Amino acid sequence: MMKKQLIGPFTQLIALQSLPLRGAIQDDQVKPIRQGGLVVEHARIVDIGEYDQLRQRYGSDVEHVTIQNPSVCLPGYIDCHTHIAFAGSRANDYALRNAGASYLEIAEAGGGIWSTVRHTRDATVEELAALTVQRAKQLIQQGVTTLEIKSGYGLSLEEEIKILRAIRLSAQQLPIDIIPTCLAAHMKPSDFSGSASAYLQAIADKLFPVLRDENLSDRIDIFVERSAFSIEEAEPYLSLAKERGFDIVVHADQFTPGASELAVRLGAVSADHLEASTEAAIRLLGQADTVSVVLPGASMGLGCGYAPARRLLDAGACVAIATDWNPGSAPMGQLMTQASVLAAAEKLTTAELLAGITFRAAKALSLTDRGMLEVGKLADFNIYPTDNYQDIAYLQGTLKPQQVWKNGRLIFE
Ligand code: NIG
Ligand code: FE
Repeated sequence: MMKKQLIGPFTQLIALQSLPLRGAIQDDQVKPIRQGGLVVEHARIVDIGEYDQLRQRYGSDVEHVTIQNPSVCLPGYIDCHTHIAFAGSRANDYALRNAGASYLEIAEAGGGIWSTVRHTRDATVEELAALTVQRAKQLIQQGVTTLEIKSGYGLSLEEEIKILRAIRLSAQQLPIDIIPTCLAAHMKPSDFSGSASAYLQAIADKLFPVLRDENLSDRIDIFVERSAFSIEEAEPYLSLAKERGFDIVVHADQFTPGASELAVRLGAVSADHLEASTEAAIRLLGQADTVSVVLPGASMGLGCGYAPARRLLDAGACVAIATDWNPGSAPMGQLMTQASVLAAAEKLTTAELLAGITFRAAKALSLTDRGMLEVGKLADFNIYPTDNYQDIAYLQGTLKPQQVWKNGRLIFE
């Protein structure tokens, strides 16, 4: 049996313990543990505190994993919104947008999501899994230890099942936790002859039971937007999903406001995007249990404004930050770069930034066992070669973790 491990010392151990799950956080609420250590057993944290005290307490009962100083240790990151199971490129969309076309114009002209659907349909399960694994590995090197991945580039019963199977196959090849989400409602497929509502009904009737039978996903997402589904179309679909026991999430208020209110009303786990949210929606999200997921990578990819993260936090919202990595609006896939650029633009404290990619992102995935370093939580953590945790946001993603640990095991160095 594996012995307990004492890991440290860390110049700063940033546990993020006892920070609030919602609302603004001041940086002086982050209490770095100087010369800290972690004791890990069976994938979990069993003790945390000052390294010298832990060394005295455990003596030779533990295996010692010595970390070279300077080092900063903090919780593994959770990227709670990605679309990395896709094939092909949309470099041409990016060039067209930079030459003046809008995201919605490109979508309406048959480009956008639909062009990725065509490439993704041509890929086999194995090819798609390989592409997904390759992108997930890039995120692991950035310190991501829990990763949400959506389907949504299949847009037929068979093709959505294929993508979700590819996500499962990729999960078997990765050392981190993968949370799959069904986004069959990404847009009405151009080759479906009925109405948008008929498409959603067909998905609910035929795909939901397969998700359950094959254990492919317990989360249902929908893109509510002019180029995708209306609020009126989304409501019965989401209600049905909820009735069938799925967690529901909504791509809301990206260009057109309105869907975040629907998300809150239906008890969605999260409302994601929110770039176009109104003051009333911000107030509502500030009181709601629904997590506000902001996606600065989409603003950077599209060259438009950021979601109002500061106002959401001040209204009391639980704000998570994710990459939205996808071939269209957010091709970059760099979580810390995006979060720190957002923090500079929106005036987020370092504590709010870190909360957004750790324990607040865990809530967006209904996970309570991770996101801070605390006794009983999973031993998922990152170690950086610096003596000041503020360097991580300050260097805007160019300072990389020297080690990434998942479930008490070193998975990258
Ligand atoms: O979150 N908004 C909808 N879905 C993605 C974009 C998908 C795409 O353009 O391929 C997003 O930004
Ligand atoms: Fe998205």
